[in-house]
Amino acid sequence: MYASKIVGLGHHLPEQVITNHYLSSLMDTSDEWIIERTGIKERRWIDPAKDTVGNMAAKAARMALQRAGLSEKDVDFIVFATITSDYYFPGSGVIMQRELGLEGIGAMDIKNACSGFIYALSTADQFIKTGMYKTVLVVGAEIQSTALDVTTRGRNTAVIFGDGAGAAVLQRTDKPGVLSTHLHADGRFAEELYVRDPGSSRPREERQPEQILDTTGFKVVMNGNQVFKHAVVRFMEAIQEALAANNMKKEDINLLIPHQANLRISQYIQEKLGLRDDQVYNNIQRYGNTTAASIPIAMSEAWAEGKIKENDVICLAAFGSGFTWASALIRW
Ligand code: UT7
Repeated sequence: MYASKIVGLGHHLPEQVITNHYLSSLMDTSDEWIIERTGIKERRWIDPAKDTVGNMAAKAARMALQRAGLSEKDVDFIVFATITSDYYFPGSGVIMQRELGLEGIGAMDIKNACSGFIYALSTADQFIKTGMYKTVLVVGAEIQSTALDVTTRGRNTAVIFGDGAGAAVLQRTDKPGVLSTHLHADGRFAEELYVRDPGSSRPREERQPEQILDTTGFKVVMNGNQVFKHAVVRFMEAIQEALAANNMKKEDINLLIPHQANLRISQYIQEKLGLRDDQVYNNIQRYGNTTAASIPIAMSEAWAEGKIKENDVICLAAFGSGFTWASALIRW
């Protein structure tokens, strides 16, 4: 059986920086509240005139391919994680495929929110292990800003989310890079963090545009406390599961890259695991929560900053809508 390894990482963030002060001019919130509760100082929002999920992802993918010393033509397959595809359907995997000029190769979309990138990585890893593909682009990209309710009514989600894209090139190797992946879900909590519309199970009258515009069904609904409480438990479980599956201890982790949901969640995990500051990578302060894009953006930045070295053990962990949670352990 084959194994897979990440050979290149890339990311792209839209130019527009949205500070907490700017959000305070739109809604009843403050820089102090946002920093204290989430750690976020600023996030990026797209310019709808030029940015799309597909083209941001293509930029991240090109960076990843270039850093891997590969070209678009080397890619055999695309696994694309997003809950904010450019169209309701098709998914953005095909949009990025078109941007990259890769017509003909398969493109699969994964809709597992904050856990989406780890689900995508796991899927790509299986395709490589079976020998079906040699080089797979694994992408996480989101545009959250245009769905946010930027009035006081939506402040518990509007201050958290941001836009961006990250990509990894996964390639066949003899020596395992991706050691294991662990995927979980519990649909009993589906409505604790969701966007309802345009849901197919809605009555026809309520799925029509005039009706929908009057509803709040398009806005992100999140029970923040409930999500937080489950997140801290599931993050820990997923990390411990990954360590146990590989007979490793928390001391073996060189770098933990948690999904960037809330700095308080990352700090809680760090404290519970007894990890030093340099063993946990966070960039939520600058980008907010970019859902499926957060892990690949963070991994790409950490690599560029020299924080990921040959032979290091990297742990990825995520929790989010679904609820879904997942982890991956990687030997670099
Ligand atoms: O990425 C996947 C998953 N998402 C997460 O993991 C998010 C998990 N949850 C969280 O990060 C936190 O629950 C939040 C950051 C969303 C909220 O923080 P919190 O400490 O749980 O605050 P809270 O929801 O308990 O709200 C406390 C107060 C409330 O006011 P009252 O009822 O005490 O008067 C809120 O209305 O803070 C108020 N509030 C705000 N105030 C200023 C909520 N949002 C804001 C805001 N600015 N943006």
